[in-house]
Amino acid sequence: MEALKKKILEEGVVLSDEVLKVDSFLNHQIDPVLMEHIGTEFARRFAEEKITKVLTIESSGIAPALITARELGVPVIFARKQKSLTLKNDIYVEKVYSFTKQSTNEITISKQFLVSGDRVLIIDDFLARGEASLGLCRLVEKAGATVVGIGIVIEKSFQNGVNKLKEAGFRVESLARIASLHQNQIQFAE
Ligand code: G4P
Repeated sequence: MEALKKKILEEGVVLSDEVLKVDSFLNHQIDPVLMEHIGTEFARRFAEEKITKVLTIESSGIAPALITARELGVPVIFARKQKSLTLKNDIYVEKVYSFTKQSTNEITISKQFLVSGDRVLIIDDFLARGEASLGLCRLVEKAGATVVGIGIVIEKSFQNGVNKLKEAGFRVESLARIASLHQNQIQFAE
C-alpha cells in the first residue's frame, strides 16, 4: 500500500535494527485518513470471506480494525490485556508472551461476543514474532469459530512471526512489509 509506505518513510523513526517507531500516525497519535485507506484495503482483500466479526487486541489494533469492520459491515471486538471489572466470568483467556517486553500477558474476550460459527478476521498494527496473533487465533478456536485471515498494518518480515502464522495455515495479508531496519534504513520487502 503506497500511501502507508510513504508515511512510514516520512515519519517512521528507526530505534534499532529491530524496532520502528510510528507514534505519529499509528501507535499514539492516529491519522484518521490513513486509517480509512487501511481499513478499506483490508476489507477489499478479504471481501470474499463472508466475515462475521473483526477481532483485534488493545490498543493500537483498534483503529485499523474499526474501519475494516465498518467497511465489512460487521462488529469489531478487541481482546483486553487488563482484566476488566465487568468481565469476570464467561470469558476466554489465553496467555501471550511478548518478546519485546519479556513478559506474559493474559488476554481475554467475553464468550458473549465470539461464538461458534463466527468467521473472524484478525487485524493488528504490527507483526513481529507473531505471539499476539497466535494468541488471538487460539481464542477464536476456543470459541469454536474460524479464523479466515490475519490483516497486518506493518509486518517486520525479518522476524519470524509471518512464517509461524503461514506454517500454522493462516492467510496473512500485510499492507507494508519491512525487510530490514539495518543501519537506520527502512527497506521494504518486494
Ligand atoms: P508479537 O506479538 O508479534 O510477538 O510482538 P511483540 O510481543 O514483540 O510485540 C509487543 C508489542 O510491541 C505490541 O504492541 C507490538 O505491536 C509492538 N511492536 C513490536 N514490534 C514493534 C515495532 O517495531 N515498532 C512498534 N512501534 N511496535 C512494535 P503492544 O505492546 O500491544 O502495544 P499497543 O498495541 O498497546 O500499542
